[in-house]
Amino acid sequence: MGRSCLPKCRLARIMGWIQMILGGLVILVSILSLTRFYSAGFFLHNEDICQHFYNVGEVSDGFDVKSLSGRIGEVIDMLEALQGKLESKVQDMEKSKSTLLEKKFLEDEIVRPLHIANFALRKIQVPNVEGMNSTVKEDPLINFFITEEIRKYITPKENRVGKMNLYGTDKVYNTIGHACVLYKEELEKYMDYDIGSYCDDDWNLAQKLMLNGCDPLPRRRCLTRASKEYQRPYPINESLWRLPDGRNVRWGNYQCRKFECLSSKNPKRGYSKCIGCFEMEKEKLKWVANSSVLVDFFISEVLAIKPGEVRIGLDYGIGTGTFAARMREQNVTIVSTALNLGAPFSEMIALRGLVPLYVTLNQRLPFFDNTMDLVHSHGFMDGWIDLLLLDFILYDWDRILRPGGLLWIDSFFCNRKDLDNYVYMFLQLRYKKHKWVVSPKSKDEIYLSALLEKPPRAI
Ligand SMILES: *[C@@H]1O[C@H](CO)[C@@H](O)[C@H](O)[C@H]1NC(C)=O
Ligand SMILES: *[C@@H]1O[C@H](CO)[C@@H](O)[C@H](O)[C@H]1NC(C)=O
Ligand SMILES: *[C@@H]1O[C@H](CO)[C@@H](O)[C@H](O)[C@H]1NC(C)=O
Ligand SMILES: *[C@@H]1O[C@H](CO)[C@@H](O)[C@H](O)[C@H]1NC(C)=O
Repeated sequence: MGRSCLPKCRLARIMGWIQMILGGLVILVSILSLTRFYSAGFFLHNEDICQHFYNVGEVSDGFDVKSLSGRIGEVIDMLEALQGKLESKVQDMEKSKSTLLEKKFLEDEIVRPLHIANFALRKIQVPNVEGMNSTVKEDPLINFFITEEIRKYITPKENRVGKMNLYGTDKVYNTIGHACVLYKEELEKYMDYDIGSYCDDDWNLAQKLMLNGCDPLPRRRCLTRASKEYQRPYPINESLWRLPDGRNVRWGNYQCRKFECLSSKNPKRGYSKCIGCFEMEKEKLKWVANSSVLVDFFISEVLAIKPGEVRIGLDYGIGTGTFAARMREQNVTIVSTALNLGAPFSEMIALRGLVPLYVTLNQRLPFFDNTMDLVHSHGFMDGWIDLLLLDFILYDWDRILRPGGLLWIDSFFCNRKDLDNYVYMFLQLRYKKHKWVVSPKSKDEIYLSALLEKPPRAI
C-alpha cells in the first residue's frame, strides 16, 4: 500500500469506494421511489392518481421525511468530496503525463457516472420540508402523456423561494406546441432516453415533429452526438466562401456523406429545395452579378436606398447563408433561417461563420417589435402557401421591422391567376414601394420581387 501502490491498485481502491457509495445510493433511491409509488396511490383505483403524484404532502404519511432528507444531504456531501478528489486526480494525471488510457478510464467510467449520480440525487424531489402542503394545480396537458420526462418538462416549475422571480412570475412554464398531442407516440419516443446519457441520433425525428406542429419541442436531458472527427472550423476570412470540411457534419440521416455530393449535378443528393446552394461558384454570383432574371435585385442597389442605415436583419428563406455572407461583407449582420430539409443547411451556415436560426413557419419570430432594419424573404414560401397563414407571417414581419425598415420580397413565385391575391396581401400594409418587378417564370407561373419600406407609425 501507500507509495508503492501502483496507479492500477489506487484505481481499484477508488473503484471499491465508489461501488459502496453507489450501492448505498441505489438503496436510497429505491426506498424513495417505493414510498412515492405507494403514496401516489398506484394500488388504489383512484381517478385522481396524478393529483396524488404531484401532491408531495402525501409522501410524508408514516415516513420520516426530514431524516431522509438529511441522509440524502450527507450522501451528496460525500459524493461531492469524492468527485472533487477524483477530478483533481485527473488533473494531476494530466500534468504527470500518466497513461492516456488510465485518464480516459477515470473520466469515462468514474468521474462522469459519479457526476450523473450526484446530480440525479440532487434532483430527487425530496419533499421540501417547509412547503409540504402546497399543491400544484395541474395543467390538463400533463396527464395526456405517459413518459415521465415529458410530464416533468411540462409541469410548471415554481420558484424555490415562493416569491416572484425577476420576470415577475411565480412559476416558469416550459411550453410545447399544441400539435404535440397529435404525435404522442413519436414525441414519447423522442423523449425516451436515459438522463445524462447520449441521445439517439434523431434530429430528423425532431424536425419532423417540429414541421408537423409539435413546435416548440420539449428540451431534452441527454447529450447530443457530434461528428467523431470534428475539425476546428476555418477562420472567418476563409470560411465565408469555402465549402466546409465534411467531417464537421454528422451525415447519418442524410443521403449524402460529404458536401461535394450535394451538388446539383447529383440526382441522389437527397434534397429538392435550393438546388445548387452548396456550389460556391454559383452562390458567389447571387445578388451581385447580372442574371437573366429581372427580379433579382443587387444588394448594392438595396443598401444604396438607405446608406449606412441597414445594419441588422433577418433572411427568411432556405439557403446556405450566402445572403448573410454578402451582407456581412457590407458590415450588415443577418440571421438566416434554416431547416435541414434533406441536407445540412444549418451546419453549412454555421460552418461558414454565420448564424442559422432553426425555425419553422409555425412560430412567431423570436425578435422584439420594431427592431430589424431588413427582412429578406427568399424561397421559403411560394404560391402554395395558405393566404391566412401568409397574412399572419406578413404581420409578424411588420411587427419586427423598425419604422423605415425594408421588406425585400425576393423572387416570390405563384400561379399567374393567384397573383392578384398575393399582390393585395403584400400591399395591404401600405408600405412605400421602392422596387416592384413582375416577370414570367413559366407559362403559368410568375415571379414577383419587391422592395418595400415600413412607414413610421407614430400613433
Ligand atoms: C400549510 O398548512 C398550514 C396549516 O395547515 C397553513 O397554515 C399554511 O398556510 C399551509 N401552507 C401552504 C403553503 O399552503
Ligand atoms: C486569414 O487570416 C489568417 C490570420 O488571421 C491568415 O494567416 C490567413 O492567411 C488568412 N487567409 C486568407 C485566405 O486570407
Ligand atoms: C449588369 O449589366 C448592366 C447592363 O448590361 C451593366 O451596366 C452593369 O455594369 C452590369 N453589372 C454587373 C455587376 O455586372
Ligand atoms: C466594414 O467595416 C470595416 C471595419 O470597420 C471597414 O474597414 C470596411 O470598409 C467596412 N466595409 C464596408 C463595405 O462598409
